[in-house]
Order: sequence, then structure tokens, then C-alpha cells
Amino acid sequence: MEKIEEIKKKAAKLIKEVKDELTLEKVRVEFLGRKSGEITKLLKSLKNLTIEEKRKMGPLANALKNEVEQAINKKSKDFKSSSNKGGGLDLTMPGKKIKLGHLHPITIVEKEIREIFKAMNFSVVEGPEVETEHYNFDALNIPKDHPARDMWDTFWLKKRLGKERLLLRTHTSPMQIRFMEQHNPPFQIIVPGRVFRYEATDASHEFNFYQVEGLMVGKNITMANFKFIIEEFFHRLFKKKLKLRLRPSYFPFVEPGLEVDIECVKCNGKGCNLCKETGWLEVMGAGMVHPKVFEAAHYNPRDLQGFAFGLGLERIAMIKYNIPDIRLFFSGDQRFIKQF
Ligand code: FA5
Repeated sequence: MEKIEEIKKKAAKLIKEVKDELTLEKVRVEFLGRKSGEITKLLKSLKNLTIEEKRKMGPLANALKNEVEQAINKKSKDFKSSSNKGGGLDLTMPGKKIKLGHLHPITIVEKEIREIFKAMNFSVVEGPEVETEHYNFDALNIPKDHPARDMWDTFWLKKRLGKERLLLRTHTSPMQIRFMEQHNPPFQIIVPGRVFRYEATDASHEFNFYQVEGLMVGKNITMANFKFIIEEFFHRLFKKKLKLRLRPSYFPFVEPGLEVDIECVKCNGKGCNLCKETGWLEVMGAGMVHPKVFEAAHYNPRDLQGFAFGLGLERIAMIKYNIPDIRLFFSGDQRFIKQF
């Protein structure tokens, strides 16, 4: 009797203290091991007792065996369930998928446009986002009090560069002048970049957006060259031949000035919600470089001619991906961005 109580106490204490499965197994062997487990030995020793004693001790010894077995099994289960909760390391568990980011749709379209023009032998150049009044307006034939300046509501900076007023560029056209000051024709460039306008936002207007400027200058560059290049550009971008429509328009730095429309990519000119039932999509401003712009860049306008254009990158991405609202691009909404 005493022996049973002693083993019972000892086992309960050890099982309680066990901290891992390996030690628990050692405890199991110590008490229940087939050869020299304490309880096994106790059970074996019963056969030396008298029948009377056996009747008394047998059930008690068996109860002890069951009790210790159950306590060990319970402890073992506890270990397993806590390791499932992350307490232990399970090498067989499948790995966690690493979420990869991807490019923003504006960046995707910009890269595509760069590649198309590079393949047509255009160079890609970039210019400053903080501009002087001279490059953004004056050199582009938009004089101080000219009403055309009202066309670009501007973020002016408090800081000046010498006497020059500074601003956030309202278009990528200033790079026309900057590039011509540094290079001799013939050349053909595009200028992708961010521009800023102090205006209210709506589904098709942002105060911060992207443009791609184009400029090709040489001795005999004509509107025919412009038409061919732009047709080819849209063909490659939308992967189908699209009709162009050139409408007269006004920009002070070109003469003549144009508004370029392409046949609606969704309905092929039949009329749909994307083209507002007109069959056409307005995609860029363009024209032949104004002689005053050549003069501002110290070129002789009698020797040269060229074309320039400026397109809105968001507008192109909206057409390409059927995006209904320009504000989605800068909303930071994961549900939108994950679709590309
Ligand atoms: C210009 O900015 C001229 N610099 C383009 C140009 C270059 C004409 C060279 C001739 C020769 P415009 O203001 O129309 O033009 O803007 C050009 C394009 O920018 C528009 O067709 C439109 O797609 C985009 N755009 C203009 N304002 C916004 C705005 N608030 N939000 C988003 N996109 C805009």
C-alpha cells in the first residue's frame, strides 16, 4: 500500500514538471517501461504475494498503472495541441506565400510608350518638375499678359531663382526648349514626366498627372511625318490599326495647332459609353513647332521645321484598361491596384 502511494506521488510530481515530449517519454519509461518500469516491476512482484494479498493489492496496482498512463497521455496531447498553435516548429507545414508587388498601371503604360518610341529611334529624356516661368511660359511663346496663360492654372513657388519666378511645371513642353538649347537637329525625343495644375479634380482631371511630350526637328520634317509616327505609335500601343482624326486647335507654341483623336478602341468608331457615342477618343494636343519657339532656343526658324505633341498618360491608361475615374490612380486603394 505504502509503495503504491509513494509511486503515485512521485509520478504525479514528475509528470507535472515535464516541459517537453522527450522528457515525458523518459518519465513513461521510468514508470511503465516493459523491463524496468517501476509500475511494471510492482505488477510483476504481485505474483509473490498470497492470494489474499493479491486480491487487495492487484486492483490498486492496476488502478495506479491506468492513472499514470492517462496522465502521461493527457500531457502528450497538451504538447501536441500547443505546438499546433505555433508553440513548436512543424517542418512539414506548407510555406507561407510571399506576396509580390507589381508596377503601377501608369508605370506600365509609360514603359510601353518608351519602348515603342525607342524602337522608332526616338531618345527618351526627362526634365525638372520645378520650372522657371521662362521655360514653362515665355520661351513657349506664352507672354506675361497673354490670355493663353489662363489655360494653365499654376502652382507658383514662393522661392525664386534670382529674379525668375518658380513654379511646378504645368506641362512637359518646357523640355522642348531645354533640349534644343543643348542639342543640334536633326533629332527626335520623347519626354515622359509628372506635371501639376492648380485645378479642381473630377473623373477626368487631377491636379497632379503625367504627360509624354514628343518633339521631332529637322530640315524637312512635315505633318506627314507626324501622322505616320503617331498612327504607328497607336497601332503598336493598342495592337490594332486605328483611324486618326486631326482637328485644328490652338496652342501658342505650335502653328498650325492640332487636337488628335483616335477611332474608339472599344467600339471601333461605332459609338459606345467610352467614346460618349462619338466614335472618337481625344488623345493629344500637337502641331508644327512655332518659329518663335525655335528662336527662343536660338535656332534659325528659316532652316528648320518640326512637330511637337503632348499626351496625357492617365488618359491613355484609362482607355487601355477601361478605367472610369482618373482619381483611382492616386487613391492608394489596394482593390484597384491589385488588378494589374
Ligand atoms: C498641353 O499640355 C500641351 N503642352 C500639349 C502640346 C504639346 C500641344 C506639344 C502641342 C504641342 P493640354 O493642356 O491639352 O495640352 O494637355 C495635354 C493632355 O494632358 C490632355 O490631352 C489630357 O490628356 C492631359 N490633361 C490635361 N489636363 C489634365 C488634368 N487636369 N488631369 C489629367 N490629365 C490632364
